[in-house]
Amino acid sequence: MNSKAKLSKTSNPEPWGKNVLVEFEDRIAWVTMNRPEKRNAISADLALEMSDVIDALEADERCGVLVFTGAGDSWSAGMDLRDYFRATDNAPPAERARVYRANWAWQWRRLLHYPKPTIAMVNGWCFGGAFTPLVACDLAIADEKAVFGLSEINWGIIPAGVVCKAVSKVMNQRDALYYVMTGETFTGKKAARMGLVNEAVPKSKLRKRTVQLAKTLLEKNPTVLRQAKVAFKFVSDMHWEEAADYLMAKSDQAILNDPERGREHAMQQFLDEKSFRPGLGAYRRKR
Ligand code: ACO
Repeated sequence: MNSKAKLSKTSNPEPWGKNVLVEFEDRIAWVTMNRPEKRNAISADLALEMSDVIDALEADERCGVLVFTGAGDSWSAGMDLRDYFRATDNAPPAERARVYRANWAWQWRRLLHYPKPTIAMVNGWCFGGAFTPLVACDLAIADEKAVFGLSEINWGIIPAGVVCKAVSKVMNQRDALYYVMTGETFTGKKAARMGLVNEAVPKSKLRKRTVQLAKTLLEKNPTVLRQAKVAFKFVSDMHWEEAADYLMAKSDQAILNDPERGREHAMQQFLDEKSFRPGLGAYRRKR
């Protein structure tokens, strides 16, 4: 056995189980922030573990869609003020940089352009730094009574990390600034009205609706789904000319990389066989 093989054998293939739990069900990976006694506040250990979990799930065939949720009655109470801020304030710069990097890695560097579809299932409290992974997930469904807040102003700090940037992507300026400046809370129902989440549903229907959405995503051509979501997110920061050129290249890439040759089958079924209406549903996939 060469040294490379030894290394992969000794490294833990499933890096979850402590601050993050993962369960698989019908190709949905339920990724649970697991510090309920601290309202799932994001500690350095949680960030490091989550970073590894996200990396591992990218290659895990049991996972076609990731759903991020929280243990207990919270999604996440944001950054752990004791563990992340106070404990690292006087830490050596390299250590401080390491834990901040781990947090940025999972919260947006990886999640924003993650190759698999991601859904935030907001089951309760959602504050401050937790807005970044919330926005970085592709889609979000909330308990209509979940409580959200950009509470940083109440702490005497600004919504940093990239929270301001994240909310500016999905909320309009008036709404975002209102909550950035007042620190008031709002419900899941209001979050849906403002476009911070896609939908708000009663708690009793939250999981069922999330599963339904995940199953819809699992039915799609995964190659094209990946390219579509990544392309959408990248072009929002591009000029029109750049976007047009990039999308043309991305479109070619999706076609070339698609083992199902979906575009070809769809055109055949619509133009030649006249066997489906693309406006009303998907082509028959040949897997
Ligand atoms: N950082 C560190 N510890 C936290 C955090 C947090 N963000 N949120 C909750 N906790 C801890 C509490 O200190 C407490 O710990 P203890 O049992 O050791 O005393 C435990 O979690 C439970 O908290 P309570 O306040 O008792 O829970 P309650 O259910 O009454 O209230 C609520 C929940 C509203 C979420 C409250 O904990 C709260 O306001 N938390 C802070 C939320 C916030 O402002 N987050 C943004 C942080 S700033 C940022 O993310 C950049």
